[in-house]
Amino acid sequence: MNNFETIFGLPAQVSAQAPGRVNLMGEHTDYNQGFVLPTILPHKTTVQMAVDNSIGGKVELFSTNYQQRIERSLHQQKINHWSDYIVACLQQLQQCQIVIPSLKILVESNVPIGAGVASSAALEVALLKAASELLQLDLTELEVACLAQKAESEGVGMPCGIMDQMVASLGKENQALFLDTRDLSFEYVELPTDYHFAVIHSGKTHVLAQSAYKKRRQECERAAALMNVASLRDLCLSELNFLDQLPHVLRQRVVHVVTENQRVLDSVAALKQNRIADLGELMNASHLSQKNQFEVTVKETDLLWQAAINRGALGARQTGGGFGGAVVALVPARVLQSWWDGVSHDCPQASLISQGQQPEKASLRRVRWVFPKISSGEQPLLAIKLKVEPIKMAKVFRFGT
Ligand code: GLA
Repeated sequence: MNNFETIFGLPAQVSAQAPGRVNLMGEHTDYNQGFVLPTILPHKTTVQMAVDNSIGGKVELFSTNYQQRIERSLHQQKINHWSDYIVACLQQLQQCQIVIPSLKILVESNVPIGAGVASSAALEVALLKAASELLQLDLTELEVACLAQKAESEGVGMPCGIMDQMVASLGKENQALFLDTRDLSFEYVELPTDYHFAVIHSGKTHVLAQSAYKKRRQECERAAALMNVASLRDLCLSELNFLDQLPHVLRQRVVHVVTENQRVLDSVAALKQNRIADLGELMNASHLSQKNQFEVTVKETDLLWQAAINRGALGARQTGGGFGGAVVALVPARVLQSWWDGVSHDCPQASLISQGQQPEKASLRRVRWVFPKISSGEQPLLAIKLKVEPIKMAKVFRFGT
């Protein structure tokens, strides 16, 4: 008998997993329709599910991490609880005219919470993949990502971009996902095998300071409006000389987003050409831009960044939404242990989350369960949910410029 049966008294019908992520380049660019370069962590969230018609229109949830059971109605709005992510995802499906039966849902995860490695996206994506399997929705990975992002922004109230959900749904081991968040086109980029992207928790919990994140997003939108462009993605490096009409703070935000977009493109080129030292320099520049221009780093992540470099990393940067959380450092595999000994000596409160990929495969147990799909005459989900703007090629960034 596994956990599910012990907890709920009936067997699970489906199980799905999704990983945490570490972003290698492109911070706060996704909600500006820019570029990002995340990869997945070996840590995963698993969601198991079964239909239970005896619990009358409610969903019953259990989290082994919180050791907590809760019953939720899908008519209910958020209650500032871990279960909000699940309710918000199921409500997104309902908005697509999908009938949600009474469900029992078990969540188990080893994705660190509050470390800035997208534990919420892992939960949303695992949940939607399990629901898709159980209800035979045949959602594509792209649809899962879009629904998950809508759930987080509309249902949970965190106005995030789409990077985390895309990589949780589409990410592959040992590869970075080079994503253009404007049209959601993407490419996998091979990661070097003789270097590690070590992910270190600074010890300062990142509660995605929603107000600060929201504020940064609003600042970017205000700057775009003042610059008369649809989003900051539409600005290129040469236009940074013409920001005089912007207030100082907005100018700083623009400089970060525009240069960070370029750093993503340059990082992809560096990876493809095996210029690993260049990638390290780009990571350092990204950290300094997050610190000085975008103002999302904190004392703990700045000290950790410095220690990572002092002890021999080729480069490092704060990763994720910021205001605490993790730093990712590029370290030659052969010095990893001595490097970490030094960093943990300098920053005793820091802890190593991951030192690279592990060859563990995400699994999705396929148990078919016949259930009403979409009420008659509905459009396919993709048509309803994917509102992707056409690519504007007028001002594109170029590799290596
Ligand atoms: C959080 C959000 C992402 C992205 C990052 C910052 O992780 O969920 O959409 O904006 O912050 O790059």
